[in-house]
Amino acid sequence: MSARFDPARDEHVALFDEAPLWSALAGQLLLEHVPLSAARALDLGCGAGFPLFELAERLGPRAFAAGVDPWETALRRANAKRATWPVRNAALVRGDGAHLPFRDGAFDLVASNLGVNNFSDPGAAFDECRRVLAPGGALALSTNLVGHFAELYAAFERVLERTGDGAAHERLRAHVAHRATVAGLRDTLARHGFSVASVHERVVPWRFASGGAVLAHHFVELGFMDAWRAVAGERADETLGALAAELDATPGGVTLSVPLAVVVAAKA
Ligand SMILES: C[S@@+](CC[C@H](N)C(=O)[O-])C[C@H]1O[C@@H](n2cnc3c(N)ncnc32)[C@H](O)[C@@H]1O
Repeated sequence: MSARFDPARDEHVALFDEAPLWSALAGQLLLEHVPLSAARALDLGCGAGFPLFELAERLGPRAFAAGVDPWETALRRANAKRATWPVRNAALVRGDGAHLPFRDGAFDLVASNLGVNNFSDPGAAFDECRRVLAPGGALALSTNLVGHFAELYAAFERVLERTGDGAAHERLRAHVAHRATVAGLRDTLARHGFSVASVHERVVPWRFASGGAVLAHHFVELGFMDAWRAVAGERADETLGALAAELDATPGGVTLSVPLAVVVAAKA
């Protein structure tokens, strides 16, 4: 374990950027509602350690939190934070949510921030969550919802209406509809042996000065641009340029809605 956080040390300051803004939007809602009675917690899809360390510290030194993720590079970063801050009651494990490397009933709480909704096989992960939870254990997860970036998708639709590209229009509809709904999540959780105890929703505004600023934002590039290009098809550059102009026409700048939900469920 290293010494106390030192603001003059480069390697300490490099670890100060705890969570990307995107993670924090949902993570704050999750931390407002996650049950804090657990002695043994798992953060499923912990990435670079969020909300793993926050959860471990809020649960306190008598509790223990493990984080699991297949992403090796993120786990290295998380390990550096764990050692440097330090967070003594947390551990990191490389693994897949569909095959969790833990014994039955090992945890009282499984939390997942924008995690399971991004997995390739969420159903298998929910079955594994149920297996590793002790009787009476809780699952708390955050997700973004249908309605996400509604203003941008409405502008995208107007652009495609003008170009008359029916196939692109269909692709856009499918892309918009692939996100979670609270009703769908309730059904999925019930099918995997959970009963929903509470649901907490919030719409967070994401503001930009212009459409160009939206499309150039690093996180948009990282998280959304490939999918939007696939929706636009062959003339993607032109269509996305028209989308930026359509957004620019919004007086007072562009505000994109990010509807989020946290669902807390009990092992039925
Ligand atoms: C959107 S990121 C969220 C990361 C982190 N919880 C946060 O809030 O910043 C989704 C995470 O899920 C992880 N992931 C994807 N598939 C997974 C799987 N099958 N099992 C466990 N984690 C997985 C990714 O590696 C990534 O770290």
